[in-house]
Amino acid sequence: MRLFLDTADIDEIREINRWGVLSGVTTNPTLLAREKGDPEIGWKEILAEVEGDVSLEVTDLSSADAIVQQGTHLAAMGPNAIVKVPMTPAGIEAGKRLTKDGIRINVTLVFSPAQALLAAEIGAYIVSPFLGRIDDAAADGMHALRQICEIYEVQGYETNVLAASLRHPMHIVDAAIAGADIATMPFEVFAKLVKHPLTDLGLEKFSADWAKLQDELKGGA
Ligand code: E4P
Repeated sequence: MRLFLDTADIDEIREINRWGVLSGVTTNPTLLAREKGDPEIGWKEILAEVEGDVSLEVTDLSSADAIVQQGTHLAAMGPNAIVKVPMTPAGIEAGKRLTKDGIRINVTLVFSPAQALLAAEIGAYIVSPFLGRIDDAAADGMHALRQICEIYEVQGYETNVLAASLRHPMHIVDAAIAGADIATMPFEVFAKLVKHPLTDLGLEKFSADWAKLQDELKGGA
């Protein structure tokens, strides 16, 4: 399962990229608004920093034509640019046209297996079910993800399933077990993946024992 960062913060992206485990980035209008700067500059910086896929979301949703126009512009920003289109009638119409033009799309704001079926049928490169937000609505996001993965397997769809709106490390583990191709997560969740209290305790003990040995060696000399 590929691990993506869900952020538009270039410092967060640079930090996780240094670990050598970052396969891509997802952005959305909320994340870009948080950074406050010109989105075009922000996107370019991220596209240059990351080797893998970077999802850039369309914001002119007035018609399918408008989505195609903006999506074509976003796709031209870099070979690793993926165009995010929303799961709406205009979004899937535009998504199908963009796909026909050879542009890779990520269908976003997906909350049900039925919507994921539509994303696969238009030949989307990625489908993004939002697990955490499904949980927020008192439903089972992981169950929806498992159903989507099963449908894609049974039907032989090639669309990549990207588990999105992930809130804690167990979301990532369960998404991997379910067979998601990609998991995208905020920096805080990525940072938690590496942490374990027993690792910290173990290190503490190793350091203390090592220091004790050094003292003994010095004392014995
Ligand atoms: C994915 O592409 C979305 O940007 C993201 O995962 C949404 O997550 P949220 O529900 O935490 O905002």
